Amino acid sequence: MKTITLKDKTFELSYPSHQIQQDIARIANAINQDLAGMPAPLFIGVLNGACLFAADLIRLINFTCEITFVKVSSYQGTASTGEVTQLIGLNHVLSGRTVILIEDIVDTGETLAKLHKTFSALNPYQIKVATLLFKPNAYKGSLPVDYIGRSIPNEFIVGFGLDYDGLGRNLSDIYTLKGPSPK
Ligand code: IMP
Ligand code: MG
Repeated sequence: MKTITLKDKTFELSYPSHQIQQDIARIANAINQDLAGMPAPLFIGVLNGACLFAADLIRLINFTCEITFVKVSSYQGTASTGEVTQLIGLNHVLSGRTVILIEDIVDTGETLAKLHKTFSALNPYQIKVATLLFKPNAYKGSLPVDYIGRSIPNEFIVGFGLDYDGLGRNLSDIYTLKGPSPK
């Protein structure tokens, strides 16, 4: 089993690149079908985590669209603080538009709920949510997650945009922390 070490922690390969790309292609196909004909939907990627997922996903979108990124901060190390402190970078008109929020991972759903609330206040026609990864056992939200690459156990992962203390985002595969997730 391929392992990597980041700082003090060892991670095992769990979600190889070819599977990630298959899941992204499946999401893109679904979005292409569902949103064809909408007037220029706006994709909003959530930095930093969704950078790789968003880049690969939008390359497979076959209708005219816009893409932008916002940045929020809610996480340190391997434990969520449960607080979203900042939203930077949203300067698009959302009113009347279809918005597709692109997340790397939906864990407790707190980030998603807060972003959804902020965007809803700007009167979009609809908001769809696409996430590469979903932790159903950690999810406490009630919003539907429309497009999910893969549901995973309640474990800590890194790679493909996801980090451990800022490290590991560049990995094209995803790795799972060996042993318990330190809080
Ligand atoms: P939530 O608000 O609890 O849904 O999680 C928000 C953020 O926590 C995500 O966008 C990620 O940045 C981060 N996060 C959650 N789970 C993991 C993980 O397993 N590895 C790395 N980051 C994670
Ligand atoms: Mg994130």
